[in-house]
Amino acid sequence: MTNKLQPVRGTKDLYGDDARLFTHIANTAARVAGYYGFAPIATPIFEFTEVFKRTLGEASDIVSKEMYTLEDRGGSSLTLRPEFTAGIARCFISNGMTQQLPLKLFSYGALFRYERPQKGRQRQFHQINFECLGLDKPQSDVEVIALADHIIKELGIADKITLELNSLGDGASRTAYRDALVKYFSKYKNDLSEDSQRRLESNPLRILDSKDAGDKKLVVDAPKLQNHYSAESQAFLDAVLAGLDNLGINYTRNERLVRGLDYYCDTVFEFTTTELGAQNAVFAGGRYNALIEMMGGPETPAIGFAGGIERLMGLVEYNESSAVDIALVSIGEAQEALAYKLAQELRQAQISCECYTSGSIGKRLKKIDKAGVRFAAVFGEDEVKTEQYLLKDLQAGNEQQVNADLMVATLKELLA
Ligand code: HAM
Repeated sequence: MTNKLQPVRGTKDLYGDDARLFTHIANTAARVAGYYGFAPIATPIFEFTEVFKRTLGEASDIVSKEMYTLEDRGGSSLTLRPEFTAGIARCFISNGMTQQLPLKLFSYGALFRYERPQKGRQRQFHQINFECLGLDKPQSDVEVIALADHIIKELGIADKITLELNSLGDGASRTAYRDALVKYFSKYKNDLSEDSQRRLESNPLRILDSKDAGDKKLVVDAPKLQNHYSAESQAFLDAVLAGLDNLGINYTRNERLVRGLDYYCDTVFEFTTTELGAQNAVFAGGRYNALIEMMGGPETPAIGFAGGIERLMGLVEYNESSAVDIALVSIGEAQEALAYKLAQELRQAQISCECYTSGSIGKRLKKIDKAGVRFAAVFGEDEVKTEQYLLKDLQAGNEQQVNADLMVATLKELLA
């Protein structure tokens, strides 16, 4: 029975400081996304399994072993979303949003992957997610990278993070590269591991991340993707890099960065840290020009990225309290009703407050101080008669008499 009362492995309850930090990160991302013209979007937490299966790649880790897939009572195969991009592309197509292009869309929420839980890796985790649809210029790539960089700065973690960037080239680049790989590895076919001999037929690119020692030796001298970019892909990459230089955004070119999802082309990037152990990617994304068309929609170039909120939580320091602005301490029953009325007035004037109506005055003030509340207004029968409340500034350690009518105005001034 006790076991049943634990959260499921790889999931976490969020409360107290963690919940505040989580909200701070999501709010910061939404605010900064607003500076870049992003609008909010929310898609369902589950989709038909097909939405993810083909788009992310049958051979990708996510599809081959990490999806939470279930059959519902009607016999449909559904999958809890393991990422946002495919669901947003599906939403774009289902709702015929072509006329609204270009679209810049921000979302955040829970995702599900059956991974081995460890620091920075959960089975239910959360992302802040950004997609730009209908934008094909290199400057859009620069802009989303600038947005990620901006969020990192606003969260105060820029010194812990490096931007790594690569280009996967376009379709033509990858076809040329595939041919070059097949030609190269065919010469050593008998030296390749059994798995890689099979990959040579099905997906030669996957030989590049083979764990087999013999394969690894052969990979060292294998042709490099960057030598097979089409003229267009090379020009696109050059323009993205020039755009980043123009904005003063530092990056490291990582020619091994290929990303684990099938839909990417051209620009791919990750913002990484050395402070979270093995799980080093905080933000990750790239261009996916063929995804929407592949799903049956119109040809729609796109780029986006997502950040892991739990990973950001491991880096961001935040200690703002969620204490209310003022505590109302009423003495006597008649005054209690007055406290509730005043509380309503204050809240409507956007001043947060809490009523402390029972217990000894000393105990109440102690509780209020402990909660980190700065102001306390104390009033009993006499104060109500004279319409003068005692307003204590618990942080500064002083107090003043304030006319009941001027309470809202006085507090507004003090809090400004
Ligand atoms: P991803 O690389 O699979 O990309 O995930 C993006 C980020 O989500 C990672 O860099 C990491 O911070 C976080 N993350 C992933 N898995 C976990 C996990 N199990 N636990 C905690 N955090 C995790 C995507 O999801 C793409 N859809 C990003 C994208 C958007 N590309 C284009 N648009």
